Amino acid sequence: VFSHVVRAPEDPILGVTVAYNKDPSPVKLNLGVGAYRTDEGKPLVLNVVRKAEQQLVNDRSRVKEYLPITGLADFNKLSAKLIFGADSPAIQENRVTTVQCLSGTGSLRVGAEFLARHYHQRTICIPQPTWGNHPKVFTLAGLSVKTYRYYDPATRGLNFQGLLEDLGSAPSGAIVLLHACAHNPTGVDPTPQQWENIRQLIRSKGLLPFFDSAYQGFASGSLDSDAQPVRMFVADGGELLVAQSYAKNMGLYGERVGALSIVCRNADVAGRVESQLKLVIRPMYSNPPIHGASIVAVILKDRNLYNEWTIELKAMADRIISMRRQLFDALRARGTPGDWSHIIKQIGMFTFTGLNSEQVAFMTKEYHIYMTYDGRISMAGLSSKTVPHLADAIHAAVTR
Ligand code: LMR
Repeated sequence: VFSHVVRAPEDPILGVTVAYNKDPSPVKLNLGVGAYRTDEGKPLVLNVVRKAEQQLVNDRSRVKEYLPITGLADFNKLSAKLIFGADSPAIQENRVTTVQCLSGTGSLRVGAEFLARHYHQRTICIPQPTWGNHPKVFTLAGLSVKTYRYYDPATRGLNFQGLLEDLGSAPSGAIVLLHACAHNPTGVDPTPQQWENIRQLIRSKGLLPFFDSAYQGFASGSLDSDAQPVRMFVADGGELLVAQSYAKNMGLYGERVGALSIVCRNADVAGRVESQLKLVIRPMYSNPPIHGASIVAVILKDRNLYNEWTIELKAMADRIISMRRQLFDALRARGTPGDWSHIIKQIGMFTFTGLNSEQVAFMTKEYHIYMTYDGRISMAGLSSKTVPHLADAIHAAVTR
């Protein structure tokens, strides 16, 4: 009965790892998926995560019962506080509902399913380009995806005018997906003043912001600074959604831990929204897993562990920034044609190199460097040892 099934292509991001794993070359380098590596090229479990796990193991009173449909209550409260700020008026007024979801993707999906059922406008405007999974998540949830201009290949920066024009002509009430910080894949973010202009436009047109916050702490190294765009939209009293992920900033990738928060008009609406979120979640996966959320709750609750976390987080962000500098210097030293200053100007985990798909294919074939076909490289996968190899490959690709 399944003989008609055709083989689907690999995922454009996770498929890069599949190809990398098959390559026997000793010099192979995976710069595809956004996953942090140490300067020795190894995956990192944060010390603070190990400590939290130890606490959880030592606590014999802990059981493995089901969580509520909405997840671990402490985790939800602390996650809202992390993104909105401890003194957020929306939290104080109880107008936020937060549910634990399966990392950023799951939070986006639950939010989109809720919107498809309960929001009057089905159109969601997403930036061009954006994370490859966004259009799929939203389309399968029943929303209709439109793009707005975001990136200008000529300047390798923000197409601010295009963005304003496209959001200005979006259908009334449309949902707008915004990357809270460290835009994936471009590493290009609006300035605070540009964010303010975007906020005014979105509010004046009655559009509904849906933030994807996958990198809080990774862009600037500061959890508060990276949350500013979201907080700016909360401060004006309007509604919004935020999908949070702890994959990158706590290194909890495979634990699949994240949260969806919906900021509502008042506490009564928030309560009703939460009751409907439960109806979205229950038939999808019943309730979320307990372990990852418990780790996060232990860390966010304890002042010492929290402080340790911010130090480890800053160290990861700083290592990425130093990789940017090293790669830039290495290309300059080789006299590689082109202006590579975008490598140090862009922020977050990724550099959008400007390399085209043929150049990427060449680098994979000849240099065993794996990256997505749009020319995005994960700076977090690079190390001092592998920078020269990457710089050689880029140099060869652009001078061929
Ligand atoms: C990425 O963009 O590499 C990450 O967000 C991982 C993923 O799930 O695609």
